[in-house]
Amino acid sequence: MKLRSLLLATTIILAPLSANAADKTVGFSQIGSESGWRAAETTVTKQQAEARGVTLKFADAQQKQENQIKAIRGFVAQGVDAILLAPVVATGWDEVLEEAKEAEIPVILLDRTVDAEKSLYMTAVTSDLVHEGEVAGKWLKDEVAGKDCNIVELQGTTGSSPAIDRKKGFEQGIAGADNLKIVRSQTGDFTRAQGKVVMESFLKAEGAENICALYAHNDDMAVGAIQAIKEAGAKPGTDILIVSIDSVPDIHLAMDAGEANATVELTPNMAGPAFDALEAYWKDGTLPAKWVQTESKLYTLKDDNKAIYESKKSLGY
Ligand code: AHR
Repeated sequence: MKLRSLLLATTIILAPLSANAADKTVGFSQIGSESGWRAAETTVTKQQAEARGVTLKFADAQQKQENQIKAIRGFVAQGVDAILLAPVVATGWDEVLEEAKEAEIPVILLDRTVDAEKSLYMTAVTSDLVHEGEVAGKWLKDEVAGKDCNIVELQGTTGSSPAIDRKKGFEQGIAGADNLKIVRSQTGDFTRAQGKVVMESFLKAEGAENICALYAHNDDMAVGAIQAIKEAGAKPGTDILIVSIDSVPDIHLAMDAGEANATVELTPNMAGPAFDALEAYWKDGTLPAKWVQTESKLYTLKDDNKAIYESKKSLGY
């Protein structure tokens, strides 16, 4: 193991190569553009890099882990100063992260976690993904206040940390409420199109007339599902309560129209804290905590959703 890799692993402060972020090149392996939130994260990351004078090398993996692994290997071969990785799934990263570490290139995870040894990355900038699901579950539990409620669930990409954790968190949020039951649960892959297709199948399945709520792991799937509910002749937000995660502008528009009920915000600005951590490291070798946690705020119909929509529209969505 090279000396700098050893020091990274043991979290001893490293001597900086250069204090100036403007000299630096950072590779960003992005998942793709499956959702409005993802597109906003890409925009914000590019803006953050530009504002700091960092040269950003962007690679869109089109939802494929193999493309992300290829991109990371490419960044290592080019000798970038750091790598930002939004990992599509949670497992299968050890080998390529070892390679980056061997090359003494710090890796920062954005918005999703991985099942890998913590010394393989510098830090993870993410929300508490379990907590987000729990907030959604608790909101629904309070909202239905003891009435029987059959829930359908649209899961995110299979094997991704938000799909795993948001499911777990929601189940924790509704735990102990015998009146609440998840009757169907299927992946909609975090996309609007799949959210619609899967909701259509839920609405055609046995017992559909008793669906009382939809929990979607992201807003885009909820927006697709809202369309499916309307086309089936029911009223989203009234006949079927809708709770989801992200707080993208379109869900606030739906909430303003009374067609969705609650969302848990996920900031698209993961890159700001990531570049802050890198700048501190480049300046004097300071290493960040292993987890930089972003906030998770609940929005409901009590909020001014029209105003939130307008202000979010100007944020890069
Ligand atoms: O990892 C964050 C999730 O990925 C967002 O909630 C979702 O919209 C995206 O695709």
